[in-house]
Amino acid sequence: MTAQPTNLTGLDIRAEIDRLRKERNAVILAHYYQKPEIQDLADFVGDSLELSRKAAESSADVIAFCGVKFMADTAKILSPDKIVVLPDMNAGCSLEDACPPEKFKAFREAHPDHIALTYINCSTEVKALSDVIVTSSSAETILAQIPADQKIIFGPDRHLGGYLNRKFGRDMLLWPGVCIVHEAFSETELLKLKAQHPGAPVAAHPECPPHIIDHADYVGSTSGILQYAKTMEGDKLIVATEPHIIHQMEKALPNKTFIGAPGADGNCNCNICPYMALNTMEKLYVALRDLEPRIEIEEGLRLKAKRSLDRMLEMASGTVGRGDLGRA
Ligand code: 13P
Ligand code: SF4
Repeated sequence: MTAQPTNLTGLDIRAEIDRLRKERNAVILAHYYQKPEIQDLADFVGDSLELSRKAAESSADVIAFCGVKFMADTAKILSPDKIVVLPDMNAGCSLEDACPPEKFKAFREAHPDHIALTYINCSTEVKALSDVIVTSSSAETILAQIPADQKIIFGPDRHLGGYLNRKFGRDMLLWPGVCIVHEAFSETELLKLKAQHPGAPVAAHPECPPHIIDHADYVGSTSGILQYAKTMEGDKLIVATEPHIIHQMEKALPNKTFIGAPGADGNCNCNICPYMALNTMEKLYVALRDLEPRIEIEEGLRLKAKRSLDRMLEMASGTVGRGDLGRA
């Protein structure tokens, strides 16, 4: 259940969060898609892989996870002895919703000669049914370690899977999920924007559909896009991912200009992730105060899900041999 802020009038929320984080020995982890005020107070801001690593390594007693539920679940799977709170338990993900575990299980059973390479944007149950988890920043490194003749199911993001198939000449079977945020970018509006800013490169997240990826000069995870902004030539970049990442770009590169790629009518807010936006400073304060809402995962399920996540962490740093890969 999501804890409701009671009357917080007159409270210095920022100061209270700082007080509670010390009192609770808490670490605040935030994804790049969080509101700027949350990114600014977090102990660490990162992409899905970096946040998983931070959660696994942290010596804090409490992890306050400012992101979406599958990310907070991942933190709990990797750090079961810590209290993990998510400011709003309704912060879900359209990709997780698109992949119900019972349907995924049936799909796996229908393809017994395939392994399941699964995007981290899924439920703990689906992780438990998978062989290896990937994030957008680790997917290419991990796929490159899987023999070319190994049959693979890739879910739940068909755009990320399709991008990997095209780039690596693979033939993975794709689960039909999409991210509603990246799906909303408009090719027509992007082309208009490119015409208005001749020479400005486009950086796109691989959750974008192919008609957006086709116009991208760089395709990568949120941290990859941030890195591209730092190293690219020129001083203007069109950004085709959730626009809150632009906050980090403007902080790191105040002399460059970042333009969010447009949605269908050229001027909508449809590229703001509605799930990420549920977290607020007030809800973060209440989560630290009450240590609720708290992530709880049944131990047997956690251990099964941890297996595919551990494989990701090992393979993302290239420490697993090909022979180590087997079905869940
Ligand atoms: P990354 O931060 O791993 O690029 O993922 C983006 C995303 O959609 C998170 O939900
Ligand atoms: Fe899910 Fe898309 Fe939001 Fe990421 S941006 S949490 S993939 S809905």
